[in-house]
Amino acid sequence: MSFFSRKNNGISEEDVLRALSTVQEPELGGDLVSRKMIKDVKVHGHNISFTVELTTPACPLKDQIQQECEDAIINHIGVPREHIQIEWSANVRPRGGVLDKAAIPGVSHVIAVSAGKGGVGKSTVAVNTAVALAQEGARVGLVDADVYGPSIPLMMGVQGAQPSAVTDDQGEPSMIPIEAYGIKMMSIGFMIDDSQPVIWRGPMVSQLLRQFLYQVQWAPLDYLIIDMPPGTGDIALTLAQSLQNVGLTGAITVTTPQSVATIDVHKSMSMFRKVNVPLLGIVENMAYFVAPDTGHRYDIFGSGGAERLAEQLEIPLLGQIPLGMSIREGGDDGRPAVLSDMPDAYADAFRSMARQLAARISVVEMEAVAAPTH
Ligand SMILES: Nc1ncnc2c1ncn2[C@@H]1O[C@H](COP(=O)(O)OP(=O)(O)OP(=O)(O)O)[C@@H](O)[C@H]1O
Ligand SMILES: [Mg+2]
Repeated sequence: MSFFSRKNNGISEEDVLRALSTVQEPELGGDLVSRKMIKDVKVHGHNISFTVELTTPACPLKDQIQQECEDAIINHIGVPREHIQIEWSANVRPRGGVLDKAAIPGVSHVIAVSAGKGGVGKSTVAVNTAVALAQEGARVGLVDADVYGPSIPLMMGVQGAQPSAVTDDQGEPSMIPIEAYGIKMMSIGFMIDDSQPVIWRGPMVSQLLRQFLYQVQWAPLDYLIIDMPPGTGDIALTLAQSLQNVGLTGAITVTTPQSVATIDVHKSMSMFRKVNVPLLGIVENMAYFVAPDTGHRYDIFGSGGAERLAEQLEIPLLGQIPLGMSIREGGDDGRPAVLSDMPDAYADAFRSMARQLAARISVVEMEAVAAPTH
């Protein structure tokens, strides 16, 4: 039926819903209407508007969903594309479905960023993931739990900041996180003096981490990202264990392409498997280098390592971040690379990786709701 053959008021909200019920959610399955993702349908004459509620504001398939919604309306109702207006909203469903019952009240997802060994860019990935998710409209927090080298304050430009302590509504002491670039943060670096050698033992670190999780005013947050200590030793294992108790949604592991680094990923994975934490994916950092003067690509640390590993272990490769001078400079200057428009800051690569992670969390969450474990 064509647009012009309809009467002025011939389109109903039901027509719109019927058309949209032919559109599948590309990742989670089911149609948009049954998944209750279509809200606020309005028809004014031949203008149709509605809101699509995504499971994350950082949805990588937003463009595809938009296209398919428009096509469905055009095909089933016959109005032209310029008469269709789509608004977007997101409802990040918390782990287990109920925010009040979340392990950390008001925090939907806790994600650990780990690495089998030091220096592969774990903190760089944690910081840029956090800022990329916030750029998409998510509410994000960042915990620096790396006792060996707390570098979040430097990378986020908040060195020397001192979180203030307050008493909450229930008379309990709590801390107000430091904020920069829209990210709420706590770091071991805020608590200790850089020049002091600090000898940490696993239980002490766990205790501090618990305070960071439970005695900080985080809520409301969609994602809380934790920069873990590198490696798979005692401290990392104890922390992974205590995170399991707070209902960690999952972990990601950062690696470089060469085989020594990827072997470490195996260890890191088995550590998380041991404590029953799902692995959301791998991020390959320093994946290659493109010389800015010649445009030649150099596979400095080899190539294909993370891809092979992801296949072997059957977990997604969430992204590949090249080596870039502006990434390093952004870290040192306290302005994360994802905020830069320099080509060698690879902001798009960070953003795409963050979207893949957000999508993966939505899928893992849906599977967990569909098949509850006891
Ligand atoms: N893709 C990249 N391109 C250029 N420099 C990078 C990249 N990733 C990280 N770096 C730089 O490499 C150094 C190490 O990175 P980072 O501190 O993020 O690693 P890490 O794994 O957290 O290390 P640590 O084990 O010390 O905590 C930093 O100076 C950082 O700016
Ligand atoms: Mg680090």
